[in-house]
Amino acid sequence: MPNWVDVASEAACPEGSALEVVAAGRMVALYHTSDGMFATDGMCAHQGGPLGQGQLCGKIVTCPWHGWQYDVTTGKHELSSIHLDCFEVKVEAGRIWVDVTE
Ligand code: FES
Repeated sequence: MPNWVDVASEAACPEGSALEVVAAGRMVALYHTSDGMFATDGMCAHQGGPLGQGQLCGKIVTCPWHGWQYDVTTGKHELSSIHLDCFEVKVEAGRIWVDVTE
C-alpha cells in the first residue's frame, strides 16, 4: 500500500535543481530534471552527505561533500554497482508527493 507524503511545494524545486526534504522521518532528495521529478535516499552512500544539497546536471547529481555522482533516475552510482533507494514521485495541485513505502 503506497505511503504518499506531501513534502514540498512544486515551486520549491524548479527544473534543474535538487531539494532536501524529510518524509516519514527519512531524508529524501528530490530532483527536478527535464524528464520530470525523481527522488532518492537523501544520504550519500559514501559518508552520508546531503544529496538534496548537491548539484544537479541533467540526470546526474554530485554529492556536495566529496563528489560522488549518481543517476537520479535509477539511484545508481556512476562508477560502481552501488544503488541508492529510489521513491515514486507525483505532483498534484502544486505540491510534490513522495511514496515512502518500505
Ligand atoms: S559523502 Fe557523498 S561523496 Fe562523500
